Amino acid sequence: MVVVGDWGFQNRIHKIIKPKSGRCVMLAIDHGYFGNIPGQLKCFEDMTPLFEYADALMLTRGMLRNCVPTELDIPIVLRVSAGSSMLKELSNEEINVSIEDAIRLNVSAVTCSIFIGGEYEKQTLMNLSKLVNEGNTYGIPTLAVTAVGREMVRDARYLGMASRMAAEMGATFVKTYYCEDFEEVTSICPAPIVIAGGKKTPERDALQMAKNAIDAGAVGVDMGRNIFQSDKPIGMIQAVRAIVHKKASVEEAFEIYKNGPVGL
Ligand code: 5RP
Repeated sequence: MVVVGDWGFQNRIHKIIKPKSGRCVMLAIDHGYFGNIPGQLKCFEDMTPLFEYADALMLTRGMLRNCVPTELDIPIVLRVSAGSSMLKELSNEEINVSIEDAIRLNVSAVTCSIFIGGEYEKQTLMNLSKLVNEGNTYGIPTLAVTAVGREMVRDARYLGMASRMAAEMGATFVKTYYCEDFEEVTSICPAPIVIAGGKKTPERDALQMAKNAIDAGAVGVDMGRNIFQSDKPIGMIQAVRAIVHKKASVEEAFEIYKNGPVGL
């Protein structure tokens, strides 16, 4: 794993990517700008039981302040980019949270999206550069999210290039989408990679995707909808954990999901 920076920087990244397994299960709840988030909206006030199974939460400032109890001991990866929604051009983002507020919120990392090939590609790359510069100044790691536009192909060539660019620009770790031939993505990216879950799919398929990604060199997942929109969110996150941290098979993990409680 590539780790730069001094004690504070390294300590923060170790809180997210667990040194024992070198892996992590992040729970993403930064979906407001996607629009369609059934499940999350209905239950977000009661999501605390789910949080304890996540190695880190990836979320926005408002979700953190409103939905995460301050006494919870969990690393926070704060999305600090905004300015667009599904209704407009998604790549038209800027940094919307100051590094001072991120530090005040005691975050373990900050994150923004980069849209390679998007209309505002350069702006998003400069957003990432700003985070890396500020993060290096204050000891805060940066997660780069290789977001894709509606028209973009999610293949290994594209996602590999986007992930590699993020790493070359100084991102501490990279979040991208799973695709066929995922080894081609991980093999050219010198920073650790976590995969997004993407749209809700049947639980077994989501677990298979997590397994494939780990086998292909990802260090973990940053999954949202496939966990919080599941009928058994706690079983699902435990199942994902078993794959990521314990090398469980998809069948073993699926059993864990099935044995989980319905709802939260
Ligand atoms: C989008 C994001 C989301 O956090 C990401 O999509 C993860 O959530 P999901 O697993 O629901 O896709 O960063 O750019």
